[in-house]
Amino acid sequence: PKLDVRFDVAELVRRVPLFAGLPSERVATIATLLRAQLALPGETIVRKGDRGDAMFFIASGAVEVLVPMLAEPVKLGTGDFFGEMALLSRQRRNADVRALGYCQLLVLDEKDFRRLVQKDADLQSHIQAVAEARRQPTQSS
Ligand code: CMP
Repeated sequence: PKLDVRFDVAELVRRVPLFAGLPSERVATIATLLRAQLALPGETIVRKGDRGDAMFFIASGAVEVLVPMLAEPVKLGTGDFFGEMALLSRQRRNADVRALGYCQLLVLDEKDFRRLVQKDADLQSHIQAVAEARRQPTQSS
């Protein structure tokens, strides 16, 4: 049987620091673009080599990123995001991302991502800066 879990998306959006400081009207608009998804423990959410068609915000829980260059997986938690690099670079997913337990995710599809960053320069530069730091081989967050 398919698991049907409903979340209050606006309430989850507020847990992401990137959005938390925004006026509630803006949060409400962004919430309409995000889709809640529950990842199960051990589930591979993003697979290296796949085409990227969305990015993900962690509303609760943790994931590990298996970065090919690094000996240890990079752990990301509540408020962090992943899957932005393929959208920004238009290249394939550069790592596997696996859920460490039950994870509440907010999914932003590629077309909504492009619209959102086009309209919000601050959001775009923040996501770009994080992606840039992750591109450094010694950087782990
Ligand atoms: P993407 O390439 O779309 O899919 C894999 C994701 O893993 C990538 O986007 C980033 O979000 C994330 N990622 C890759 N390298 C690192 C890193 N060094 N630290 C943290 N996250 C990373």
